[in-house]
Amino acid sequence: MSDRSDRGTDRPSQGAPPPRPWWHDAVIYQVYPRSFQDSDADGVGDLPGIARRLDYLTWLGVDAIWLSPIYPSPLVDFGYDVADYTAVDPVYGTLGDLDRLIAETHARGLRLILDLVPSHTSDQHPWFQASRSSRDDPKRDWYLWRDPAPDGGPPNNWLSHFGGSAWELDPRSGQYYLHSFVPEQPDLNWRNPEVLDAMAGVMRFWLDRGIDGFRVDVIHNLLKDEAFRDDPPNPDFVAGPGVNPYHALLHRHSTDQPGVHGLLRWFRRVIDAYPGRVLIGEVEYGSSEERLARFYGQGEELHLPLNFSLMTLPWRSPVIAEHLARYDAALPAGACPTFVIGNHDRARVATRIGPAQARVAAMLLLTSRNAPFVYYGDELGMRNVDLAPEHQRDPWGLRVPGHGRDPVRTPMRWDASDHAGFTTGEPWLPVGDDAGTENVARLREDERSILTLYRRLLALRRGDAAFTRGRQRVLPAAGDVVGYLRGDGKRRVWVALNLGSREVEVVVPVPGTGEVVLSTWLDREEEPVGGALRLRADEGCVVVFGGGEGVPAGRWPSSRLVA
Ligand code: NOJ
Ligand code: MG
Repeated sequence: MSDRSDRGTDRPSQGAPPPRPWWHDAVIYQVYPRSFQDSDADGVGDLPGIARRLDYLTWLGVDAIWLSPIYPSPLVDFGYDVADYTAVDPVYGTLGDLDRLIAETHARGLRLILDLVPSHTSDQHPWFQASRSSRDDPKRDWYLWRDPAPDGGPPNNWLSHFGGSAWELDPRSGQYYLHSFVPEQPDLNWRNPEVLDAMAGVMRFWLDRGIDGFRVDVIHNLLKDEAFRDDPPNPDFVAGPGVNPYHALLHRHSTDQPGVHGLLRWFRRVIDAYPGRVLIGEVEYGSSEERLARFYGQGEELHLPLNFSLMTLPWRSPVIAEHLARYDAALPAGACPTFVIGNHDRARVATRIGPAQARVAAMLLLTSRNAPFVYYGDELGMRNVDLAPEHQRDPWGLRVPGHGRDPVRTPMRWDASDHAGFTTGEPWLPVGDDAGTENVARLREDERSILTLYRRLLALRRGDAAFTRGRQRVLPAAGDVVGYLRGDGKRRVWVALNLGSREVEVVVPVPGTGEVVLSTWLDREEEPVGGALRLRADEGCVVVFGGGEGVPAGRWPSSRLVA
C-alpha cells in the first residue's frame, strides 16, 4: 500500500483546525465500466480500457472516478448482482489490472472509488449457495428466510423494485427468501453480526489495495422491519404506463429503518481506519432535504449522501430555487452537499430537460456549493439511445416494460471511427446514430460545444476557491431565473440561470460592475455587467465581482425581473 499522507487527510496536529477532506473540493466522474472503453475487442469495456482514457479525464479536469461494479457477476442486474466481492470479473480484467489502474489514477493526481453492493448478493454467491443448501446451514441466517403465509403464499406483501413480490419460494427447503430487486439478488441479513464481519473484510480488501473510497448501493435498503409487517397501501398511487407498480405500497417496513443510521456509523468506523477515504451512499430517490441531511448524522455517518433531486424534481425555477435553499438550510454544519444530474439508472439529462437546458444544469452542478457527480457522456450531451427490442438487456425493462436502463448505458463516443472508437469488436449495446458527430474528438475542437463548456466550468471551479470553499446564498426565483451568490472573501460571484425558453432581463443583485466570465453559450466573456443582465433563452451566466467581503450573512437583495 502506498503512503497516503500526501493525498489523504492527515491527522490534525493539536489546536490546528481539522484539515479539509479532499472530496469537499472534488468533482467525481462516474464510469460505467462496460461502456467506457474496450481494450480486447470483446465489445465490453474493461479496466485496461479505462486506464487508456485517464488522460482524457485529466484533460477534462475531474478529480475522482467512481466505477460501477467490476466484480464477478452473472450480470442479471449488470454487476449489481455480485458473486464474489473480492475479485474482478474476467470480462473487465484481473486484479493486476485494477492495481495498475489504481497506480495510474494516483500518478495523475486522480482518485479511484469503487461501488460496494452490501444490501444483496447474486444467488450465485457462495454465501447464498450455502444458505439455501439447508435450513441448518451455518449461513442460513445470512439471508432473510421466512415460512410461507398460512395459504402457502409469500410471507408478507412486500414488493420488489423490479416488479412482483419481493419473496421467492425455494422449493428445496419450503421457505421463501427476500429479494428487494430481481429474484437472483437475495437480500443479506444485516442484523446478523457475521454479515457485518464479512463485509468489513471485503471493504478492507479493497482499501488495503489503495482505493480512495466506496459508493455504497441502496443504503436505505439494508435493514427491514424485524416483525416483517405488511407495508401499507400508498393512497396516492395511480397505476399507469411508466409508473413503477412498486409504488403501490408505502415502504414503511421494508426499507429505511432507523437502525440504518447505526449501520452507517459502523461503515464509517471501518473506513475511518484508513485516513482520506470517502464514504458515499445511494439514498432513496425522492428523499426530502431533511431526510438527506439525516444521512450525515453528526458527521459520523456518510460523507456524501447522493442527492438525486435535480433528476427527479420538475425543472422549473421556483422548484429548483426552493430545493437549493432548503437543502443548504437542512444540512448540518460542515456537511458537504452533493448533486447528481445523471447516472446509470435514470434518463440522460439531455433527454429529460433537452440539450440547451443540459448546459444550464451543468452550470448549476459545477458552480453551486456541492461535490458534483458527472455521469460519463453527459459532458458530450449524450441522449438516451433508441434501442431495438432485440438489444434490450436490462432485467428491469424486461420485467416492467418502459423501465429498461440500456438507453442510458450505451458506449462512450470517442471519435468518428467504427463504433465511435469504443471497440474494434461488436459493442454490447449500439453506440447510437449520432455518435459520428457527437464524440470527444469533434466536440473538443468546437469552441462552443457542451464538452468545451464542461471543461471551462471545471477549470473555473478549480481555479477559484469561491466555487469550492465559498459560501452560498440562494436567491428566490425571479421568473424563470434561478440565481445564487458565491463568495470567499476575495470575490463575489453571481450565477444566473434561465430555466426558460424566453429572453429575460434581471436586476443584478450585487452593487457595482461585474463581468460575465462564462455563458452556457460560450460567446459573451469579458462583458461588463451592472444594474441589469439580459439572459437569452436557455442561458446561464457566471458573473464575477471583484473585491468585496464575500457573501454577507445578513439579507441580500433578491434578484428580480426588470419590469
Ligand atoms: C442501485 C443501482 O444503482 C442499480 O443500478 C441497481 O439495479 C440497484 N441498486 C440494485 O442493486
Ligand atoms: Mg473488453
